[in-house]
Amino acid sequence: MADGAPRSIRLDALAYGGDYNPDQWPEEVWLEDARLMREAGVNLVSLPVFSWPQLEPEPGVYDWSWLDRVIEILWNEGIRIDLATATATPPSWLIRSHPEMLPWNEQGQRLEFGSRQAYCPSSPVWREHVVRMSRAMAERYGEHPALALWHISNEYGDHVARCWCPESSAHFRRWLQARYGDLDGLNDAWGVNVWGQRYTAWEHIEAPRQATGPVNPTQLLDFERFSSDALLELFQLEIDVLREVTPDVAVTTNFMSLFRELDYWTFAEVEDLVTDDAYPDPADPHAHVPAALNYGLMRSLKGGQPWLLLEQAASAVSWRDVNVPKAPGRMRIDSLQAIAHGSDGAMFFQWRQAKYGQEKFHSAMLGHRGEASRSFQETKAFGAELERLAPVRGTRVRSRVALVVDWDSWWGSSAPESLPSQRLDWLAQARAWNAALYELGHPVDAVRATGPFDGYDLVVVPNLYIADVAQAAALADYVAAGGQLVVGPFSGVVDATEKVHDGGAPGPLRDLLGVEVDEHWPVPDGHAERVELVSVGRVGAQRRIETTAGEGLDTLAGARYSTGEGYANPIWGEWLEVHDGTEVVGRYASGELAGRAAVTRRMHVDGTAWYVSAVLESAGMLAVFRTVLAAANLPARERTDTDLEAVTRSDETTDYTFLLNHGRHELTVDVPEGAVDLLGGGLDTLRYSTDATLTLPSFGAAVLASPRAAHAPFITLSDSTD
Ligand code: GAL
Repeated sequence: MADGAPRSIRLDALAYGGDYNPDQWPEEVWLEDARLMREAGVNLVSLPVFSWPQLEPEPGVYDWSWLDRVIEILWNEGIRIDLATATATPPSWLIRSHPEMLPWNEQGQRLEFGSRQAYCPSSPVWREHVVRMSRAMAERYGEHPALALWHISNEYGDHVARCWCPESSAHFRRWLQARYGDLDGLNDAWGVNVWGQRYTAWEHIEAPRQATGPVNPTQLLDFERFSSDALLELFQLEIDVLREVTPDVAVTTNFMSLFRELDYWTFAEVEDLVTDDAYPDPADPHAHVPAALNYGLMRSLKGGQPWLLLEQAASAVSWRDVNVPKAPGRMRIDSLQAIAHGSDGAMFFQWRQAKYGQEKFHSAMLGHRGEASRSFQETKAFGAELERLAPVRGTRVRSRVALVVDWDSWWGSSAPESLPSQRLDWLAQARAWNAALYELGHPVDAVRATGPFDGYDLVVVPNLYIADVAQAAALADYVAAGGQLVVGPFSGVVDATEKVHDGGAPGPLRDLLGVEVDEHWPVPDGHAERVELVSVGRVGAQRRIETTAGEGLDTLAGARYSTGEGYANPIWGEWLEVHDGTEVVGRYASGELAGRAAVTRRMHVDGTAWYVSAVLESAGMLAVFRTVLAAANLPARERTDTDLEAVTRSDETTDYTFLLNHGRHELTVDVPEGAVDLLGGGLDTLRYSTDATLTLPSFGAAVLASPRAAHAPFITLSDSTD
């Protein structure tokens, strides 16, 4: 392969299939599996994810025979393989001869064998054997025509994302040496004069274990970064071997959606295809809303390229306290949601439901009752339907809004101690902002704090606790170029070493936002303060602002407070000082901050920077984003319904608009006239009426093809909906 040419999955259809564990079944079942897979439209399976002990029963003694046969059987049916390197879990013989490779928890206890992922990511022994196994797999199967994709390891960090063993501590020290050069650099970065933590030798530094009291926050933050990097190194080691032996085959590792422990921006950079495992809880009627954000991240990790949903459950999982099955139709709508958001297929864990072991109560495409099982019937029906969606393969989602995802800020703001409040939750904040935009009709992409932001009409930053000058400059450039930017609370607080920016928050964002935070003012548990939004009239019009003398606060001419009680603000507030020329869009309406600015906007020449210093309940965020969307000249749904989702994938000529009803009641929506439903005649009883409205039954879906428009069709509930 020419250097730099993209490698892609070798499959010429939307992927459909799942994890397959033939080594849990006698050989006669393999033939039945292949037959039923074909019947169900399966074209890709992931294997052998956890089979190292079956492939190398003794050190250096390989048994490929069974896997050779499985692959032949599948390939005879035209089924391709997402071939795992089988390095997700070590064989017992390796662990017993090298017990030092087992991971330690924070309390310094060694974790035992008996589950999976029983390795320390830094262990040299583990790394050596992983590389050896990966090479053996690549040499054995690299030329096989069924090989579609390399599946490296499995869900890095799922069980062991952090290790506190002596080897990890030593690796941490090497990582710190590379980052800071010398001990002075480290001591300075960690601010060691606080509580007398100056280090005089590298060997004195440990991974941050449970200590006598609160641990140095920069040490904690660096350990988060290091631990993510340690797994990334492991990933890279396998990638290097596979690229050497099979340079043309694409590589992936399956992600776990918005997963705190790993900075997926860095992982996505080194792989060819983003894949994700998604398990929205069927017991949660709103689970599809955060799922939309997860998928927004997945498609954005490689700049809008299609990704692949590699695992989901056909029905119930078995790892929650209570594992509720998916109602009829729910698997289909969940799969369509991922495809709507840019997945080129829908895959499952797993093909055949296990008969024994930890996951025997986890659903599968083929349930315990076999062909008669409801899950197989739904699997087969959806497999047939998926063929109708062939035109969407390779197309890209069009979003006008992007949400900044920054792992440093996530880690720093969710440290277990030494923060103004433990109630401000990075993920909850990102989800809340996404939820409001979702309800108003906008799917959001994810983006790094340094961009690129071009092409977005609105960029939102739910939290950027750690902000540096480069990020601030990128955000300021976006606003200078006419963008609308909304920044959330507790942003611009510290630099990359967790030192508070001179002058306090929002640090390098101060001029852009036109505010200063005098003090963070979290709301005590059990209280809920309130924020009222100012009626801002013709939002978006550029006009001069008059300053209210004495107070230092700016108000809009003619502004008035809303007459209602405002919006609950149960978690967080800030004492803001507002620069001249910054407008106050919302004020605290209760508590010590009553009357002070809560939400502001600062107009720059063409663009606008908004600051939301509170954590508002959902109605409050809806109101804020309504105002912002209007200012950005973006449409917003008048009537909202969290069950309605519309996402458009496009190629050069055609928009494919996915309309999804995630709920139990039918929804009628206005649709582009003349659009053609790719799913038409599918499982739904869609009803078109002459005035271009469409009624979606419970869990109903349509995929409307229409000529590509300047912007993706904006779908609203029809007035005729009850
Ligand atoms: C995933 C994992 C699979 C399976 C699945 C069950 O986290 O990758 O191997 O265990 O969960 O939901």
